[in-house]
Amino acid sequence: MKVRVVDDEMFATTAATALLVNLPPDRPRLGVATGGTPMRLYDELARRSSRGEIDLSGAVVIALDEYLGLADGDPHSYATYVDEHIAGPLGIPAANVHVPQGYGDDPAPGAAEFEDRIAEVGGVDVQIVGIGSNGHLAFNEPGSALDSLTRVVELSEQTRNDNARFFGGRVDAVPRRAITQGLATICRARSILLLAAGQTKAAALAAALRGPVGSDVPASVLQRHGDVTVIADRAAWSRMS
Ligand code: F6R
Repeated sequence: MKVRVVDDEMFATTAATALLVNLPPDRPRLGVATGGTPMRLYDELARRSSRGEIDLSGAVVIALDEYLGLADGDPHSYATYVDEHIAGPLGIPAANVHVPQGYGDDPAPGAAEFEDRIAEVGGVDVQIVGIGSNGHLAFNEPGSALDSLTRVVELSEQTRNDNARFFGGRVDAVPRRAITQGLATICRARSILLLAAGQTKAAALAAALRGPVGSDVPASVLQRHGDVTVIADRAAWSRMS
């Protein structure tokens, strides 16, 4: 595991460099987390793209997860996030953007289909992940099987509370269910870039990287992956030293 612990102002550039060195130049397949932490990385990529320093318009983008129960185009959906912060600014056509989606009353087939879709595009070259304050990885909450695949999950109360900040502070507006790539699915990525920022992640990060590997701390599965780079700010790293 490679680790870079950085001051806040270096977080985005360090993450961008770590990502770009690991991305193959030709049709890179980029696995993207959403949420607050990677936003600074996506803003940095957008900046470099607008200056003509990088060209990721040929990339294939594969999202980790999506809420269930939001309408198409809902501003809180991860599909909207990927469009606004990644695909749009980087000029990636919609046909090359893949976000899990549940159809109608039964979202389970949509989840299974997404697992196949990842295989069809050839897998993920670099998977960007964050970590939940409860140790979740994507929306694999504590208790998730380490060999889990893409599926429908219930969000924990802690995750719904943490994510209420994206829903105007209203926990009741945060969906209760989601589709998420499984822990085994995520670990098939050739390389993984874990981004962690802020004191609220310190305990989860230490448990994931130093503690035993197990379902109680889903992100601990990363200890079993052979190519993980961690970019953490000093607050997130504070329980590690
Ligand atoms: C988002 C995702 C989540 C987040 C995690 C951290 O696609 O899969 O696991 O990475 O909840 O979120 P932030 O960065 O908002 O603290």
